[in-house]
Amino acid sequence: MEVKNICCIGAGYVGGPTMAVIAFKCPHINITVVDSNPERIKAWNGALENLPIYEPGLAEVVEKSRNSNLFFSYDIKGAIEKSEMIFMAVNTPTKTEGEGAGMGADLRFIESCARDIAKYSKTDKIVIEKSTVPIRTAEKIKEILDQNDNDIHFEILSNPEFLAEGTAVDNMFTPDRVLIGGHESESGQKAVQALADIYANWIPKEKILTTNVWSSELAKLASNAMLAQRISSINSLSALCEKTGAKIDELSKAVGMDNRIGPNFLKASVGFGGSCFQKDILNLVYLCQFYGLEEVAEYWHQVVKINDYQKERFAKKIIDHYGGDLKDKRIAIFGWAFKANTNDSRESAAIKVSENLYKAGAEIHIYDPKVAKENIEQDITKNWKTKIQKSKIIIEDSSNNILNQGIDCVAILTEWEEFKNLDYNQIKVFDGRNIINKSFYSL
Ligand code: NAD
Ligand code: UGA
Repeated sequence: MEVKNICCIGAGYVGGPTMAVIAFKCPHINITVVDSNPERIKAWNGALENLPIYEPGLAEVVEKSRNSNLFFSYDIKGAIEKSEMIFMAVNTPTKTEGEGAGMGADLRFIESCARDIAKYSKTDKIVIEKSTVPIRTAEKIKEILDQNDNDIHFEILSNPEFLAEGTAVDNMFTPDRVLIGGHESESGQKAVQALADIYANWIPKEKILTTNVWSSELAKLASNAMLAQRISSINSLSALCEKTGAKIDELSKAVGMDNRIGPNFLKASVGFGGSCFQKDILNLVYLCQFYGLEEVAEYWHQVVKINDYQKERFAKKIIDHYGGDLKDKRIAIFGWAFKANTNDSRESAAIKVSENLYKAGAEIHIYDPKVAKENIEQDITKNWKTKIQKSKIIIEDSSNNILNQGIDCVAILTEWEEFKNLDYNQIKVFDGRNIINKSFYSL
């Protein structure tokens, strides 16, 4: 089956970059990315330097295809109607209410996409789960799609996304693997082939892995859980290093040189952030509990607990350094994004660490090269449980501004390159991201 028109529902961190790269690599396919948030669509259609998402190389890729074979549109109905293949790249956050609140995935947005697809489809469609979803979500989607009155065949595939923010374009150009899960029926396998053919335009065939739907759905959760587990493992050992005189960087290197372990994701930090690791592990924990696997659930839950512990520990280290009280202390927070090269601050360690420093009495001066001031303000109002006194939280335009106004110490919370070469002079630095060799682990 040849696919000529693709619709992607969700123009976020996944939908935008993935569709831009597919459009760039497949000029023979028309791609329309739609979103229920008109501001996002407007920004995707606006100036290249102000796209809603910052990713190295993304503006160049968008520029090549936009309004040629890549379109950003408000017309969800029209885009569904004319496409043979529909990607669902909407958010799947942790549930905040009802059964499974605080743990399970909120599938509200996936369900609403499925309802739109059921309502507007007049021809057969291949419907693809691009979002990260709990195992057996395809079953729920099928139930909704079957409410369509026309005699239409919907084939559901799982095609989870493995890109990391900050390297999204590179990851899409040369992925370690592309995973496609489909049903074992004839129509299922035809749909798998149709999607594999699209990726084969630039990805070697041996990197395109096909499995059944359930393995693919679960492989995504498992991959994120295992990556996060490595970070929590090394972070837990950083606490032991501090008690014993071992150095965590030397430990990481020594351990990672074992080929069977490997060096990646062994960098001790102030804790992992980002919109996915925590929510996906909590979702895995919830699934294990649902299936009565309490021991397995507890094993994975520990990865999130150690991450919380590391964030608390970092803030406490600064507070203890000043004798347990930060009254009259002015502290610089360098970096608000959850990692370098992105403007995304969802679940960033900076949110929790700065709250704890503020609660201990400090005046906080925040700077991030890419996260907009309004987003930092929103993160604080939405997430801090403390009463906020605005005059004690100052969001600055440059790191030098802060360094030049007599602050007491700097907490580096994102590993932005520009923080490496600043002149810190005699200022105390607590390097939560371990980038300038004044690591808090060796204090
Ligand atoms: P996001 O919040 O940046 O984007 C989701 C978009 O979907 C939003 O713009 C929202 O307005 C839109 N949306 C929600 N419901 C809609 C509906 N019914 N109709 C139209 N638009 C709708 O989220 P994201 O970071 O792109 O993540 C999307 C999914 O991909 C999640 O499941 C996430 O776990 C997964 N994922 C994310 C990353 C990442 O790096 N961010 C990587 C791999 C996988
Ligand atoms: C992660 C995965 O790496 C992607 O494969 C996955 O697709 C994505 O989640 C997702 O599902 O959303 P991302 O969160 O964008 O990608 O970024 P990572 O590079 O994984 O970093 C996550 C966090 O871990 C960051 O806060 C980073 O600073 C931290 N980290 C990473 C460490 O503390 N130590 C390390 O060694 C590596």
